[in-house]
Amino acid sequence: MSRTYLIAGNWKMNGSLAANAELTEGLVEGARELGIGSRPDQMEMLVCPPSVYLESIGRTLAGSPVHLGAQNLSDQHRAGAYTGEVYGGMLTELGCRYVIVGHSERRSLYCENDSIVARKFGAALAAGLRPILCVGETLAEREHGSTEAVLARQLHSVVASNGIAAFANAVVAYEPVWAIGTGRTATPEQAQAAHEFLRGQLATADAKIASSTRILYGGSMKADNAESLLACGDVDGGLIGGASLKAAEFLAICAAAQQAPQS
Ligand code: PGA
Repeated sequence: MSRTYLIAGNWKMNGSLAANAELTEGLVEGARELGIGSRPDQMEMLVCPPSVYLESIGRTLAGSPVHLGAQNLSDQHRAGAYTGEVYGGMLTELGCRYVIVGHSERRSLYCENDSIVARKFGAALAAGLRPILCVGETLAEREHGSTEAVLARQLHSVVASNGIAAFANAVVAYEPVWAIGTGRTATPEQAQAAHEFLRGQLATADAKIASSTRILYGGSMKADNAESLLACGDVDGGLIGGASLKAAEFLAICAAAQQAPQS
C-alpha cells in the first residue's frame, strides 16, 4: 500500500506577524515552484503555527498547496468556562486539517499523560481534525533498553481508548526526545527500527490500517539528513521543528520527499 509523504512544520512558540508573512509567502512560492499539490499522491506539505496566527496564515495559504494545522487543542470541552483552552472545532473553522497531540514538550513541560493525550486524539477526530500523535523515548529510556516498551505504551493507550479504526484518519510521529532540538538525529537504522516496531504494533490490531498509516520521523530532521531518513521503508515523512522556520531549509526537505521512493 503506498503512503503519501507528509512534511509537517512544527513552528512551536515562534514567529511574529512580520516574520510569519515572510516565511509563509516564501513557502507558498517555493511549493508552487516544486509543483507540490499538482499530483495528489505525491506528497503533502503542512505548517503548524502558534494558534494566534492561524487565521492570518490561513488567509495567506488559501488556495495554495500548503496545508494548515495546529499544535494543541482542548482535550474534551467544546465551549464554556475553560480559560485559555481552544476547542478543535475552532481550529477546523480556521481551516486547520491536522493537530499535533502528545508532543514530548507537552508531555514533559505541561504534564500531559497518556490519558490526556488519548482524549486529545479523540477530541481532534470528533472535531474533524487529523491528529498527529507523537510518541518517543527519552535518552535514559533508550539507554535502559526500554524504547519499545515506551513506544508500545504510548501507542496502545491511544488505541485502547479510541479504537484502531480511528487511525485511518490519523498520523503517528516517532520523535525520540533526545533528538528534538538537539542537533542529534536518529540514524536511519534507528529510525527504521522504531517505525517498523510502531507499524508492527498497529498491525497487531489491524494489518490494513497499519500498512496505510503514515509514520513521520521528528528530531533534528534537516535538509542534509532528510534524504537518508526518508529513504527508509517505514518513514513516511517528517515532523520538523527548527528547520521549518527557514523557508529554503523546509522546502529542501519537501524536495527530498518528492524524490524519495514511495513507501
Ligand atoms: P526539531 O523539533 O526538528 O527542532 O528537533 C522536532 C519536533 O519537536 O517536532
